[in-house]
Amino acid sequence: MKVLILDTPKVAIARAAQTVAETVRTNPQAVLGLATGGTMLPLYDHLRTLHSEGLSFAGTTSFNLDEYVGLSPDHPCSYHRYMAEALFDYIDIDPSHAHLPKGDSTNAHAEANRYEARIVEAGGIDLQLLGIGINGHIGFNEPTSSLGSRTRVKTLTESTRQANRVYFERDDQVPGFAITMGVATILEAKSCLLIATGAGKAEAVAAMIEGPLSALCPASALQLHPAATIVLDAAAAHCLRLRDYYHHVHPEGKDRVLA
Ligand code: PGA
Repeated sequence: MKVLILDTPKVAIARAAQTVAETVRTNPQAVLGLATGGTMLPLYDHLRTLHSEGLSFAGTTSFNLDEYVGLSPDHPCSYHRYMAEALFDYIDIDPSHAHLPKGDSTNAHAEANRYEARIVEAGGIDLQLLGIGINGHIGFNEPTSSLGSRTRVKTLTESTRQANRVYFERDDQVPGFAITMGVATILEAKSCLLIATGAGKAEAVAAMIEGPLSALCPASALQLHPAATIVLDAAAAHCLRLRDYYHHVHPEGKDRVLA
């Protein structure tokens, strides 16, 4: 795992945006795995700016991690809407190449299988963006999700429903189920880029990087990934025991060059 610790959320987001931009510049046909949530909003802002400065997404394909079961694409709280408003409406990605699971499909289980197959058909994901939940989830793979799981319907924990409550008007509007890529689906991406900012994520981040590999912290599965980069601000890195070492290996988030 490459652990990059930057002082502020702003610098951390800029560092993550740089990795996405490099991926797209190196391979204009890149398949991007995208994430939603509050952490990603400033990142998408940054990508919009890079696009206005010439970075093209015209050849890229994208697959989002998840979508709520029961919400149509035009529902104001759907991740389809989130992606349109945060990114897709402002860049030149071909809308027919920007995929999310269909939350309002009449058969959510069949939709999950179709989505998994569609990722394979596209040749797999080159760079998967990830956030982390305070309970250690990635995508909507809640604690005790199988580390071998594939895209499927998942029951959300109360902690996740509470965390996402702010986006809905009433408690009973927060969906109880989501279609999410599985842990094994995520691990098949050629590279993963997880971003966490803020003190609220510090314990989950420590469990992911330094805790045991365990389904209790699904993000710890990234310890198995050969090309996982974790971008943190100082607050999110606060509980890491080997913090000094990570700073030493990647001062200010940069790679150390072998002498
Ligand atoms: P957040 O969500 O960015 O809104 O904190 C992250 C996640 O739950 O994966």
